[in-house]
Amino acid sequence: MMDTLLTVALTAREHAFAPFSKFKVGAALESQAGQIFTGCNIENATYGLTLCAERVAMFKAISEGARQFRRVAVAADTDALTPPCGACRQILWEFCGDIEIVLINPRGKIETHRLKDLFPKPFDVSYL
Ligand code: THU
Repeated sequence: MMDTLLTVALTAREHAFAPFSKFKVGAALESQAGQIFTGCNIENATYGLTLCAERVAMFKAISEGARQFRRVAVAADTDALTPPCGACRQILWEFCGDIEIVLINPRGKIETHRLKDLFPKPFDVSYL
């Protein structure tokens, strides 16, 4: 039976607004309290204003008062599972630290990573 966080990420992907790339991504972020915040990519005609699924989920969570997180799931329809982009790794690091990242596709292929491995030697508040 599939973990709820993963099914929720796959469902969030269905809400993606990706008319330009046609590349739909879903994310589900689990807080320490067990709440799940979802996100999908939201594209824009300027392209540059596009928001990734992970950042939508992250900012929804922050805006609703959550501050501690356990895991994030990222869903896309690729055989080589899609990892968070560089900008999202930075944002996830700043709000979540070395969080567990679960990648999934609609065929149920799953991989688990730690953010520290995907994003070694991050810049963060400790340097300021
Ligand atoms: N995208 C995400 O939502 N998350 C990622 O980690 C990788 C890329 C989106 C942005 C854009 O809408 C589309 O995927 C193609 O890059």
